[in-house]
Amino acid sequence: MDRKFSAFPSNNHTLAFHDHEIAPQHGTSTMKLSAVPENALEWLARAAGAVPTPILDTLIALLLARSVMVATRLDIFEALAGGPLPPDEVAARCGTDPSATAKLLSALAGADYLTYDAGRYGLAPVARKWLLKDSPHSLRDAILLQLLDARFIEHLDDFVRSGEPVHMHEGLTTDEWALYMRGMRSGATLAASELVRRVPVPSGARAMLDIGGAHGYYSVALCRRHLDLRSTILDLPEACAAAAPLLAAEGMGDRVVYQPGNALTTDLGVETYDLVLIANLAHHFSAGANRALVRRIARALRPGGALVFAEVMRPRTPGDAGQAGALADLYFALTSESGAWSFEEMAAWQREAGLIPRKPMRLLTAPGGGLQIATRPRVRSTRFTTDPMAHPSAHRDRDTHLASSLTPT
Ligand SMILES: C[S@@+](CC[C@H](N)C(=O)[O-])C[C@H]1O[C@@H](n2cnc3c(N)ncnc32)[C@H](O)[C@@H]1O
Repeated sequence: MDRKFSAFPSNNHTLAFHDHEIAPQHGTSTMKLSAVPENALEWLARAAGAVPTPILDTLIALLLARSVMVATRLDIFEALAGGPLPPDEVAARCGTDPSATAKLLSALAGADYLTYDAGRYGLAPVARKWLLKDSPHSLRDAILLQLLDARFIEHLDDFVRSGEPVHMHEGLTTDEWALYMRGMRSGATLAASELVRRVPVPSGARAMLDIGGAHGYYSVALCRRHLDLRSTILDLPEACAAAAPLLAAEGMGDRVVYQPGNALTTDLGVETYDLVLIANLAHHFSAGANRALVRRIARALRPGGALVFAEVMRPRTPGDAGQAGALADLYFALTSESGAWSFEEMAAWQREAGLIPRKPMRLLTAPGGGLQIATRPRVRSTRFTTDPMAHPSAHRDRDTHLASSLTPT
């Protein structure tokens, strides 16, 4: 059966063919991997329910994933950047075995990552755009990070049996920390410009805290747009050390700096920041830890300041989640304390801390991603300095005034 996998928009049921997808999906907008018939016979087989999708979902998906990751690590795509080559020449440039390389090239051509013509392989547009080091859209480092993810995923069996997750931040080697930081940086390119456009930076904002900011690219992008803004990245010491060269390459000088520490214990100060960003970290913390963190952040925000959660959001139902959302939730649960959180859960932590949650925002550039933003009311600072919870509903009538002081989203 000559079927292949493709990514389809999963919110359009006329395009997604997974066996159990029978209704249009609402809410999350993600793509899904699915088997695509390549000829009339296969269309008929699919219609008759005769396609053995579990084989495609396992053996074929595994081989496809591994082939793309390994070819990236071995610089197969880089070898073809200058134009099509025969397999022997690719093997010579990559220092690999000629006949095994020929098999890998053939597999990648079958999966539409490469073209094939008269004994020579070339880059297909998808590989040129996303996998070459020097492409402005390069996800090369994110793909390399997935070799590490693949190791964590090996533990899924144990996780489901015992409920014990892989604590991924514990026990990484120095090289793995560097790989992790480069991978996150490469993934951040996808959403950074949208995030920067949609985060409501309070007018006159000067101080930002980027908790778990890693490579610091979101801080860099926000500080480039808001010229008076400076950012402190609070991250684990190993992350700061591994990511420092990535931040240095952005040339932001002392406008974006690291503070090695721990989000759960480091003193965040009182009325210190106009903007606090937590991107892709809440899924590593339990509900209790997040709730306590948000209370400390509420105290650290200046009146009128904003707290922004940027996360892959947990949809309410598997139907809402779609394939990618539900698998991402499983992945986060496997590799961290808790798994993804929903907009509603984050908004509840914010409300409990005396902040005023805004309407959830879905990120168009990050599949399944969203922003849950809340602002600290503009009240006399003495009333909120020690415990914003003491006044959870205080001065809600000032919300309108607050909203008008924010830049448009
Ligand atoms: C998935 S990465 C997100 C990086 C970046 N914010 C982004 O969205 O691309 C999670 C980051 O949180 C950091 N982190 C994990 N636990 C932390 C903690 N207890 N305190 C501070 N940072 C932590 C990790 O070191 C890592 O840099």
